[in-house]
Amino acid sequence: MKLKTSTFVVLISLTCCATFAASAGRPHSMKKEKFGSVQGNAVTLYTLTNSNGLEVRATNFGGIIVSVRTPDKQGRMDDIVLGFDDLQGYLDNKPYFGAIIGRYANRIAAARFTLDGVQYSLAANDGPNSLHGGIKGFNKVVWSAEPFENSTGVGLMFTYTSKDGEEGYPGNLRAKVTYTLTDQNELTFDYEATTDKATPVNLTQHSYFNLAGDGRGDILGQELTLNADRFTPVDKNLIPTGELRAVKNTSLDFTKSTTIGSRINDKDEQLVLGHGYDHNFVIHRTGPGPVLAAHVREPQTGRVLEIYTTEPGVQFYSGNFLDGTTTGKQGHVYKQRFGLALETQHFPDSPNHPEFPSTILRPGQVYQSRTVYKFSVEK
Ligand code: GLA
Repeated sequence: MKLKTSTFVVLISLTCCATFAASAGRPHSMKKEKFGSVQGNAVTLYTLTNSNGLEVRATNFGGIIVSVRTPDKQGRMDDIVLGFDDLQGYLDNKPYFGAIIGRYANRIAAARFTLDGVQYSLAANDGPNSLHGGIKGFNKVVWSAEPFENSTGVGLMFTYTSKDGEEGYPGNLRAKVTYTLTDQNELTFDYEATTDKATPVNLTQHSYFNLAGDGRGDILGQELTLNADRFTPVDKNLIPTGELRAVKNTSLDFTKSTTIGSRINDKDEQLVLGHGYDHNFVIHRTGPGPVLAAHVREPQTGRVLEIYTTEPGVQFYSGNFLDGTTTGKQGHVYKQRFGLALETQHFPDSPNHPEFPSTILRPGQVYQSRTVYKFSVEK
């Protein structure tokens, strides 16, 4: 009986693999190499390749995505994210290239918030604000990484426990972020977290894209559609005022595909305050599942990126603070607007805005969030 069961299992798995291999062409794969070390902790560089040859390299330092190679409409592969050649570059990664952002992505005004009657002070690292988790956010820690392969693709499971009090946040927060490169040319991010004290949590991914290819000029000619008819206007410190404002009749209306550069220098007060686009858009949704947040198309190469998410917002950042002082991969000098980020997230400064969707995670609850990057080409 035992023998029969195992024969059955073997047969089933052979059938699955044959079906999968037949539909996928070549198998997906995973490579692991040393990337260096940070304070005695080994840092590894993982190369994930799917059955279509799409390749993502990521490291357990900050969960950073180091490169994403996809084909253009002629089938030519290129790296479409900004970054550095080696770990050294990522140690002082001011623009947050490719990293996991936490414990709280985006800004918390005046680096403080009150929760259940207690005021918490955070590290101020952006003028008066706390930005992207503070001085040593999740982008600067060494995560434990577990590579895996299954029938949907190949991936990495990153885990990190952020200690009670770290960067001023309450509670031991156990975070798990799973990256999966599927054979459908998607890179999925599944975020999970639990805590032992109530705390704000807002996790995101800070990859900068240039769909023409890394180092191939600015992103101003790329066409963007956002599934958002409202955004959260900001003050001079890039803190939301609390208003949800209609994008209609403003330079922030991307409800129809629009070239990013066509209005970026408009005298619109919000563009002046943001030095370009650096705004949280309210994703239009009818249910809780992943919906399309953003669609980006690069007209010359035909590359398209679609972003789906369960989050209520997406920060569209047009790389305004890149100023030519950062030299990245292959000596590429990153000038203003040489990359764009689309950070799926809860709204900035939510802990100080009770009218925004809550970001508070309490003991016994599980924080769950999913974002999908889908890569394709349009001829
Ligand atoms: C986010 C912010 C920007 C900037 C970048 C990092 O996208 O909204 O203002 O701080 O991160 O440079």
